[in-house]
Amino acid sequence: MIFRQLFEQESSTYTYLIACEKTRNAALIDTVKAEVPQYLQLLRELNLTLVYALDTHTHADHITGAGELRDLTGCTTLLGEQANSGCVSHALRDGEKIPVGELTLTALHTPGHTDDSYTFHLIDGDEQYLFTGDTLLIRGTGRTDFQNGSAQEQYHSLFGKLLLLPETTWVYPAHDYKGWMRTTIGEEKAHNPRLQVKDVTAYVELMNNLKLPNPKMMDVAVPANRACGKN
Ligand code: FE2
Repeated sequence: MIFRQLFEQESSTYTYLIACEKTRNAALIDTVKAEVPQYLQLLRELNLTLVYALDTHTHADHITGAGELRDLTGCTTLLGEQANSGCVSHALRDGEKIPVGELTLTALHTPGHTDDSYTFHLIDGDEQYLFTGDTLLIRGTGRTDFQNGSAQEQYHSLFGKLLLLPETTWVYPAHDYKGWMRTTIGEEKAHNPRLQVKDVTAYVELMNNLKLPNPKMMDVAVPANRACGKN
């Protein structure tokens, strides 16, 4: 597998390039529009063909590069069906398989941060990877107070789905504000303060008392991302 973790400074977003060494087919997860020229350069330099630009959810803090990448490369864009995006090439459902050459990403519906949040699961040999978007962050979890978020649903996405995977599973989130780049399921179970709750009621209580300001770009980014980042 060819794998790169890319960072966009303005919104502290991580974008992931995943590609099959044999077929040279590639996917980009959670792209940022302003970085599209860099993605194109990297794809060209690594001799890769972009087949998918996919988003873990409708972002509120940056504009997706998916629409522009589709225009420029002919790739397919993917976003969860719950996003009700009129322009996405294909709306994902829970459990759907996304082939990237000989690799397969599985889309797991993990609502809570937003109702359209998905985690992408990849098994490559002995290693497992989760691209968790804002569902599971490093020592944190994504806020649940807007965009049809639900702390209760997020609890079930975490404890009923993601945390059941092997403890050695690598976790790559959509953001980190301190520069931490990856973690594992085992590490988060042990050290993530949001996960040290005794039940769903305690989790809801914790999440409902965060009192966070709205993201700076929310009013611009959410409508733009419903239009694949093109408006
Ligand atoms: Fe988000």
